[in-house]
Amino acid sequence: MNNFMFYSPTEFVFGKDTELQTGALVKKFHGTKALIVYGGGSVVKSGLLNKVKQSLDEAGIAHIELGGIQPNPTDPKVYEGIELGRRENVDFLLPVGGGSVIDTAKAIAAGIPYEGDFWDFFIGKAIPQAALRIGVVLTIPAAGSEGSGNSVITKVNGLKKLSLRTPEVLRPAFAVMNPEVTYTLPAWQTASGVTDMMAHIMERYFTNTTDTEVTDRLGEGTLKAIIKEARIVMKEPHNYDARANIMWAGTIAHNGICGTGCEEDWASHFMEHEISALYDVTHGAGLAVIFPAWLTYMADHNVGKVAQFAERVWDVPSSADLKAVALEGIARFKAFLHEIGMPVTLKELGIEHPDIDLLVAHLHENKGELVGNYVRLDRQASRTIYEIANGSTNF
Ligand code: NZQ
Ligand code: ZN
Repeated sequence: MNNFMFYSPTEFVFGKDTELQTGALVKKFHGTKALIVYGGGSVVKSGLLNKVKQSLDEAGIAHIELGGIQPNPTDPKVYEGIELGRRENVDFLLPVGGGSVIDTAKAIAAGIPYEGDFWDFFIGKAIPQAALRIGVVLTIPAAGSEGSGNSVITKVNGLKKLSLRTPEVLRPAFAVMNPEVTYTLPAWQTASGVTDMMAHIMERYFTNTTDTEVTDRLGEGTLKAIIKEARIVMKEPHNYDARANIMWAGTIAHNGICGTGCEEDWASHFMEHEISALYDVTHGAGLAVIFPAWLTYMADHNVGKVAQFAERVWDVPSSADLKAVALEGIARFKAFLHEIGMPVTLKELGIEHPDIDLLVAHLHENKGELVGNYVRLDRQASRTIYEIANGSTNF
């Protein structure tokens, strides 16, 4: 096991009616004027936004709004939020929504006190030293941004989707999580969220670091729980306990605990970010296509942990033929993804003629000549994985 630092100071307030505590929580974390950030309107339609505003009023917190954040959020809304926040002297960011809304709010929070261009943070030109405090009201279990120190934004000019990871300044102070607000999620978004949280565990699980028994078992156990609860949620969208378990799993998957002591991978995420930047697909659905392809490549190049994943998560009987075990695990994973309505090929994702040359070029421009850690992927390797995802190689 490697040395590690794990610091996850977010206050999670979980359960029914917890959104009514939002105002008191903003006050607790010294906010006096909040910029509420939200998406395309689901929180207006459900009445959640009004409840949150009422709770702020009751706590004496002033508030203004920035709505209209789209999935795969882009930089213009961040610039708009920075300008608005400065002009209105806000001291707190309150995203009400999912990863796209939260990530936009995080970028605004870091951008307001910074004299330069916020995009500097995403291209590694500067590291955020300070940010306005952020509190989250979560509406979709998926990206795990409510407990992560990350923000992912796409620059429209050049279609660069890049992530920033600075937990010291970007981790939310609190996250309000009421599973009931997730009842209105369309099946596609529920399943994409499930896939994304599974991927967050897997990016950490597939490691060459040895003797990480506790971390491995945390990952395997959470994956098994997600598989079980996801099957219920897809059939019974109003099942409170299944929604609650899935919601909490989304946070556990990405707040860092599942990667303690391990060198993490993240190649599948970087490969997917190129797909969602170029084709604007749902992030989790993109991962449903990329991760099985990545695993298939790994079954040939570093089978050990893939076979362990097959045995322990998918109950494949053990055998001396590790590759056969691994491939059976991947087949069961794909069958599960289909069962919950996810695509497993680029074609099923709606991309008939992917520009693999461009995907490979962007990936390595953005992330360097070698991507990931479980196996370091060069251009040839990443091309092969995109081709497996495209079904254009009999790998
Ligand atoms: O915009 P509205 O109308 O609110 O609708 C949203 C949106 O269309 C809808 N939705 C959310 N909650 C709902 C709801 N509809 C009905 N009822 C509800 N309760 O769902 C759609 C998707 O929302 P989005 O915020 O895009 O979802 P998600 O949480 O999956 O976020 C995806 C973004 O997060 C990034 C992804 O790349 C993508 O850009 N990620 C962020 C990470 C992080 N910050 O740590 C890590 C992840 O790996 C990921 O890369
Ligand atoms: Zn993700």
